[in-house]
Amino acid sequence: MTQDALPNFSDFEPTLADEREDILAGLSAPQKRLAPKYFYDRHGSQLFDRICELPEYYPTRTELAIMRSHAPAIAEAVGEQACLIEFGSGSSVKIRLLLKTLRNLSAYVPVDISREHLLAAATGLARDFPGIEILPVCADFTQPFDLPDTQRPVARRVVWFPGSTIGNFEPDQALALLEVMRGEVGTDGALLIGVDLQKDRETLERAYNDAAGVTAEFNLNLLRRLNRELGASFDLDSFRHDAIYNSEHGRIEMYLVSQCAQQVRIGDRVLSFTEGERILTEYSHKFTPEGFAALATRAGFRLEHLWCDPDRLFSVQYLAAV
Ligand code: AVJ
Repeated sequence: MTQDALPNFSDFEPTLADEREDILAGLSAPQKRLAPKYFYDRHGSQLFDRICELPEYYPTRTELAIMRSHAPAIAEAVGEQACLIEFGSGSSVKIRLLLKTLRNLSAYVPVDISREHLLAAATGLARDFPGIEILPVCADFTQPFDLPDTQRPVARRVVWFPGSTIGNFEPDQALALLEVMRGEVGTDGALLIGVDLQKDRETLERAYNDAAGVTAEFNLNLLRRLNRELGASFDLDSFRHDAIYNSEHGRIEMYLVSQCAQQVRIGDRVLSFTEGERILTEYSHKFTPEGFAALATRAGFRLEHLWCDPDRLFSVQYLAAV
């Protein structure tokens, strides 16, 4: 039904069942783990939107403030007739600002793993920005996907990757993802990216252990999703959320901690947990400006602009393909 309004919707239908082997392998490893991309079912995407509004969670509002203060410079860097490709298009506040800021944009390609969330956002954008071609792609952006054809001429492809989602990836994977982006934008292309910066432990740990418990709910929702989509038997009350800053690696590490010795079924498999055993569910790497520039350089980008807030909590960076 929503699809009638968006005839250009490319749907590659990622479901948890397709990822069953990956999930079982992760949960069978000595350090049990689940990839953060699995957070984003319908409810998970809604919980993430609520995280972005939390007083402790500074990244979203700081990134928005940076974009507002530097809107003319961002428009200047991107230039006219660009095709903007957003990797992991969640909430629509930042993109609305960007679509208003950029001049004579040819097309906007939102790519997201959460179909309903993507379609709802794309439908609203198509209505509010009739002059821009909106071409949604439902796909897992860690895997290669085909870009849809555009009707209007495109002067430059620019990947928009906000929110410091790049921090979810370990250095090798982050490099691989930046290389995919570099491949998608081609020569003359560019990357506009939000990168969270290293800072004191207190600020970081507060941002991932909010007082209202929304981040805990977001983390635990992963188990609810395994129960529903893979027939698992996790008891949500016997796992607890935890997030700590690992300063050696410059990253927040999020865990689900088993509150007792217990067994959990996933279909025909049985997993054992000791009391206190943790499932690693997310890394959120924090960068120094130099550290991120070094990584981007290895992927074939050159830093052209680095915009920060006055407290240097967060950065928005424009990198040109070389
Ligand atoms: C969407 C990956 C950028 O790492 O800050 C927020 C996800 N997890 N609170 C982040 C998240 C817990 C977020 N990213």
